[in-house]
Amino acid sequence: MKASVYIGTFVAAALGVQAGVVAPTQPSIRNVYTFPKNTFIENIAVRSNSKLLITSMSVPDLFLIDPTVANATAPIVHTFANATGISGIAEISPDVFALVTGVWDLINTRAQLGSLAVWTVDFNRRTTPLVRFVTQIQNSTIFNGIVRHPTNPRILLAADSALGAVWRVDLVSGAYGVAFVSPLLAPTETAHLGINGLKAAGSHLYFTNSAQKYFGKVGIDANGNQVGAIEVISNATAAGADVVYDDIALNLNKKRKNGQAAPEAWIASHPDYAIGVSLVDGSQRVIADAVKLLNPTSAAFGRGSFKEEKTLYVTNGGEFTPEWDLINEGVVAIDLR
Ligand SMILES: *[C@@H]1O[C@H](CO)[C@@H](O)[C@H](O)[C@H]1NC(C)=O
Ligand SMILES: *[C@@H]1O[C@H](CO)[C@@H](O)[C@H](O)[C@H]1NC(C)=O
Ligand SMILES: *[C@@H]1O[C@H](CO)[C@@H](O)[C@H](O)[C@H]1NC(C)=O
Ligand SMILES: *[C@@H]1O[C@H](CO)[C@@H](O)[C@H](O)[C@H]1NC(C)=O
Repeated sequence: MKASVYIGTFVAAALGVQAGVVAPTQPSIRNVYTFPKNTFIENIAVRSNSKLLITSMSVPDLFLIDPTVANATAPIVHTFANATGISGIAEISPDVFALVTGVWDLINTRAQLGSLAVWTVDFNRRTTPLVRFVTQIQNSTIFNGIVRHPTNPRILLAADSALGAVWRVDLVSGAYGVAFVSPLLAPTETAHLGINGLKAAGSHLYFTNSAQKYFGKVGIDANGNQVGAIEVISNATAAGADVVYDDIALNLNKKRKNGQAAPEAWIASHPDYAIGVSLVDGSQRVIADAVKLLNPTSAAFGRGSFKEEKTLYVTNGGEFTPEWDLINEGVVAIDLR
């Protein structure tokens, strides 16, 4: 697997890249919004009207950002009761989003047992969105990435980074349980987040395992049960010794200039990367930027216009000051061509 490295100015300077060595052009990275300190930014979903929905594991607020205006603001859509933060968010039907709240222990990235809850937020209204409680999960300590089942609209699938499992939640009845569990989805003794990002397409789930440092896929049936073996698509270590994969954005409709299909995934990766992975051959394109990419936690393509669809939004978890304040958490835009 080959990895071509797009070196940002800062990194190039730090590495002392010599004159005459032509680094491939780095796509431009724009800051969209920076949150106040100690607002750990976790996940992103994009509405069809271009607006970004942003979750934070440190506050129980759902934020809405219009990335198409200068000097974007981040008004709160809703503040969730009985929670300290929000993890995954995913669209489950047009302009209706599911999300997961919990009472989080951020050091250990686990929720208090019994505190995880699934909610839906419906924007198909003129006034304030309709927020609906779906269910409380009694026996998981983390739902990380979530995704609606690709064909069954009743089923939400959730990545349990602690148990190494994919759960299913019936969005209508609120019933839930483990769909499948595997050692390949589990964390390790030294890294406590196993399966992390989760996306779905066709009859497959695409996921990252942060601890085991790979991006993979697995077949599922109409109820979310595992079909066939888990396959590794790319290895984080092959992209860089320090790369830790986090959440994923899929771009299945990408075509080369000659019209050939070139489906890809973009993976928000710690500490300073956005990594494009070809779903055809697993080759990786590494965008590194130690100034603008600060512990990237998730990524999503823009929507609503041709320009937005070429824009990859990446959430930054932020960086710690010497006083252990988290700063520069937010959203940046990468203009991919
Ligand atoms: C955005 O902020 C800059 C700097 O404060 C200011 O000069 C500019 O007028 C603002 N633009 C808009 C559209 O508010
Ligand atoms: C929050 O918890 C309290 C106490 O258990 C409960 O009465 C209330 O219904 C909960 N609120 C929501 C929105 O779940
Ligand atoms: C969690 O609880 C559900 C519902 O009671 C049950 O079906 C499931 O087997 C439990 N799973 C685990 C991992 O404890
Ligand atoms: C990734 O590559 C490393 C280094 O070659 C190897 O040790 C590791 O087993 C690979 N991981 C997977 C999941 O293939």
